[in-house]
Parts: sequence; structure tokens; C-alpha cells
Amino acid sequence: MKYQREISLKNGSTCVIRNGAEQDAEAVLANFIETHRQSDFLTTYPEEITLTLEQEREYLRKKADSEREIELVAEVDGTIVGTAGIDQMGRAEKLRHRASFGISIDRAWWGVGLGRALVQACVECARKAGYIQVELDVVAANERALALYRKAGFVEYGRNPLGFRSRACGLQEIVLMRLEL
Ligand SMILES: CC(C)(COP(=O)(O)OP(=O)(O)OC[C@H]1O[C@@H](n2cnc3c(N)ncnc32)[C@H](O)[C@@H]1OP(=O)(O)O)[C@@H](O)C(=O)NCCC(=O)NCCS
Repeated sequence: MKYQREISLKNGSTCVIRNGAEQDAEAVLANFIETHRQSDFLTTYPEEITLTLEQEREYLRKKADSEREIELVAEVDGTIVGTAGIDQMGRAEKLRHRASFGISIDRAWWGVGLGRALVQACVECARKAGYIQVELDVVAANERALALYRKAGFVEYGRNPLGFRSRACGLQEIVLMRLEL
């Protein structure tokens, strides 16, 4: 699925939101590892990310060629500052209507509208791909993300009180959210 759009951020910068491509692999991997170092709200610790550069290239190539999945990058002045994507929940026919959403943005770029733009872009792609529901899991203490998702129309459908066990703060509750398209 192809996507490309230019947006103005709240700090006056111009950002391009587009498909990640093979040649972005190094920057995407670096951004992914850095965002996972910065936030305790993501599933993996940076050292658990064992993807090689070649695997990242292959991942981005597959996503760019896919009709049903997408990996978007947010680029400001030639630097990749965040990524977001839509994955299918499963290959089985009974799951084909459901997509999952994920996002991570470099902390230096929080609060300028990038989250909102990436959510909108992914939802638009999910709709185009024919999904009827987008789903995500978010740590209950992640107020910024919760506000972003609620504004985009996601609603809570459950909670897992023992969702994550963080090294820093122990057990973390997870909120399950969904958006009907
Ligand atoms: C969560 C995350 C994607 C938000 O992205 P962002 O670029 O900061 O979001 P935006 O600037 O578009 O803000 C979106 C909304 O969040 C809300 N928000 C912004 N700052 C906030 C704050 N400090 N507290 C609560 N809500 C806040 C606002 O309501 C804003 O809505 P607005 O556009 O009407 O002002 C980003 O902080 C991030 O990548 N965090 C680390 C990884 C992560 O938590 N991923 C989500 C896992 S489920």
C-alpha cells in the first residue's frame, strides 16, 4: 500500500509521512531502538530488539509491497523521527477484518502533532485495505497515548491488570482499545 503526505507540525516544521523503504532500514532501526530506550510504555527493551539490518530491509521491502500492511515513517529534514504501522491480526479468513496498530516517536518530537498525523494516516490506510476494525493495547499510565487514541475515536473494550511487568515500576495495567471503521 502506498502512502505519502506532507504536513505542517505545531512547531512550524514540515514533516513527510511516507512508506518506509529499504534504504531507510538503518535510520528506522536506529529510531526504533532509541524510542524503545526512551519509553517504558513499549513492549520490548532495546536489547531485546535483535533485528539485523538485512532483516529490517526485508521487513520494509515486504511492507512497501503489501496490499494489507504498512509501515510508515515520519521524516523531518531528512531524519526519521517516528514510525507507525498497521498489521493484520492473522492470516485466517475469520481474522481478515481486524488490524493492529503500533506507533513510536522520538521523545524530542512528542507534542507537535506527529502522533495524531500518524494515527490518521494508518487509519486511512486500514480503511483502504478493507479492514473494519483497528485494535491496539496501551499501558493505562500512558496518558498521552490514551488521549491521542480517544481523540481519534478509539474506545476501550477491556483491561489486563497484569499486562506488562516493567523493570522500573513492576506490573502495569494494559488498556485494550478498538476503532470501528
Ligand atoms: C504516544 C505518542 C505516539 C504520542 O505522540 P505525539 O506526537 O506526542 O502526539 P500528538 O502531539 O499528536 O498529540 C496527540 C494528543 O495527545 C494529547 N497530549 C499531548 N500532550 C499530552 C500530555 N502531556 N498529556 C496528555 N495528553 C497529551 C493531546 O490531547 C493531543 O491532542 P491535540 O492534537 O488535540 O493537541 C508518543 O508520545 C510516543 O511515541 N510515545 C512513546 C511510545 C508510545 O507510548 N507508543 C504508544 C504505545 S500504545
